[in-house]
Amino acid sequence: MLPSHSNFSGKIHGGYILNLMDQIAFACASKHCGHYCVTASVNKVDFLHPVEVGQLLHLRASVNYTGKTSMVIGVRVESEDIKTGQINHCNSSYLTMVAKDDNGRNVNVPGLIINNAEGVRRYVRSIWRYDEAKQRKARFNEQTFKSEDYVKLLKEHNIKLEDV
Ligand SMILES: CC(C)(COP(=O)(O)OP(=O)(O)OC[C@H]1O[C@@H](n2cnc3c(N)ncnc32)[C@H](O)[C@@H]1OP(=O)(O)O)[C@@H](O)C(=O)NCCC(=O)NCCS
Repeated sequence: MLPSHSNFSGKIHGGYILNLMDQIAFACASKHCGHYCVTASVNKVDFLHPVEVGQLLHLRASVNYTGKTSMVIGVRVESEDIKTGQINHCNSSYLTMVAKDDNGRNVNVPGLIINNAEGVRRYVRSIWRYDEAKQRKARFNEQTFKSEDYVKLLKEHNIKLEDV
């Protein structure tokens, strides 16, 4: 990591790491399906450890799930201190990539071959994550959401409700 990647506090900019994660997910997904892919969605990213200038960054990616035209790519980022060898887990995330043909249409991807328990865990976890996202979307649908149902909850939070 170079000084040019750092933010005002001298640590590596989170946005730069997200950019690298997107690139590695693209490479992994495109190589799996043999087509160029676009990023449809990026799952929550928690920054667990700051990355320092001068550290090596390891990014590992795996195809965790294959749908019809989409793939979920798991990306794990670790930093390595060159002098001490200390490795820290910086963050992990899941990116959904969709394969495109030469005309920009979504195209079917080959399914995964899973041959171990870890592969099963990752696949099932992707299904759950997708279902949870669908439920969240439905729950907070603009047409059906009723703010009055949440006034009591909001009173416990750091806001002042006016005219709701
Ligand atoms: C994402 C995109 C490919 C979805 O395509 P679409 O034709 O509108 O939508 P579809 O409903 O047919 O979805 C295609 C697949 O993507 C999945 N998908 C779409 N949006 C998704 C999301 N937000 N999260 C997870 N999966 C998603 C669908 O589940 C479907 O998967 P499947 O084929 O494996 O069943 C399309 O909206 C797009 O091209 N977006 C812009 C992508 C881009 O430019 N990314 C770079 C960021 S600037």
